[in-house]
Amino acid sequence: MYSIKNHVLHVEEVSTAQLAETYGTPLYIYSEAKLMEQLDEIRASFLDAYDDTHAAFACKAFSTKYMCRLLEKEGFWLDVVSGGELYTAMSANFPAHRIEFNGNNKSIEELTMALEYGVGRIVIDDVSEIELLESLCKHHDKKVKVLFRITPGVSAATHDYISTGKKDSKFGIPLNEEVLYPAIERAILSSELEFLGFHFHVGSQLCEADTHQAALEVALALILETQKRFNYVVPDLNIGGGFGIRYTNQDHPLHLSAFVKPIMDRITDFCEKHHIKRPHISMEPGRYIVGEAGLQLYTIGNIKTIPEIKTYVSIDGGMTDNMRPGLYGAKYDAVVANKADLPKTFKVDISGKCCESTDILIKNIEIATPERGDLLAVFSTGAYGYSMANNYNKLTIPAVVIVKGDQHQLIVKRQTYADIVSREL
Ligand code: LLP
Repeated sequence: MYSIKNHVLHVEEVSTAQLAETYGTPLYIYSEAKLMEQLDEIRASFLDAYDDTHAAFACKAFSTKYMCRLLEKEGFWLDVVSGGELYTAMSANFPAHRIEFNGNNKSIEELTMALEYGVGRIVIDDVSEIELLESLCKHHDKKVKVLFRITPGVSAATHDYISTGKKDSKFGIPLNEEVLYPAIERAILSSELEFLGFHFHVGSQLCEADTHQAALEVALALILETQKRFNYVVPDLNIGGGFGIRYTNQDHPLHLSAFVKPIMDRITDFCEKHHIKRPHISMEPGRYIVGEAGLQLYTIGNIKTIPEIKTYVSIDGGMTDNMRPGLYGAKYDAVVANKADLPKTFKVDISGKCCESTDILIKNIEIATPERGDLLAVFSTGAYGYSMANNYNKLTIPAVVIVKGDQHQLIVKRQTYADIVSREL
């Protein structure tokens, strides 16, 4: 995906210096080849390796019409969590029956939108949603397939802010007997809902498979119990996303098959042992598909040396276009893109331009001697960068460009100052 020619970092065949000149900085850049590589890996480890499966892209990681179109063409599904993500998918003509609607507080307006478009599945996150959805279905004369997102009560080895499967979580239906089973029964008996089964998502950026395995045990026990109590064969199980990627050389992500194979083996064994028909299995990775395919390009401005303390290298963006370091202490690797093969002898902090002392993108990184006007490329920024971008300090949201071989194409225009004030009355 990357190479260096005349000291300049290239994405596929395109020079980052040329991209900066054409589109300006800060800039989000994606390599289509890397995106395709990730999709191929999901095919090899999951979709082609096992029958009766599907994979949905968790749009929250990079919700854009471009991604929806690419995934449509490649046969993937989408997982959306809001009216806005659903609208983005529909405006890219994504087939609604391949969309799953997640979310811990879907509004009446959003559920109505989902029913009208005819989404493939709604993932119920709270028992009160059953009644709400039934009444909306009646009103609009619709029937909808549903899954229950369960809270499996497992803790993931990741940042607490992105661990979602533990007992005390705002996501999912708790496993308590008096909450869960009456809800399952109601969904099975409902004439408006078609109960497909269970969904779990245990956390994000996971670099071990134990948490998925632990949640799977909970889900399998529920499938068996549902069959015993209600004589109902659960047709579907969604194992969520959360598969970790490499941000820096401190990360040691697992190969996707290291998650998938033990899960699928266990499901097969369990179903054989209990004479249950194996359910349709789905997953919904976000970061895994887009994270490493993206990089961000900035221009270096002020270089401030505090004698005997440190040097701050300031860039023309920051926590508005990548809030992960500020929010989670996320770590990234970077290089001076126009000096990509020069010795990295200068230890600095990379500082964003927001009026916030936590707006430090990277601490203690060694880079080639920086000068004003140099370009800085930050790697593995394809997930939750653009999608979490904001206008703090009224900074504009950067443009997004996709590179394919020696071609490049603008897929999201840079926000203008006029855009920023356009909704203000
Ligand atoms: N499915 C559900 C129900 C989810 O809640 C999520 C992520 C995913 C799938 C996709 O997870 P992934 O494969 O991307 O790890 N903003 C945070 C991540 C929040 C993830 C929330 N849910 C970050 O920048 O790390």
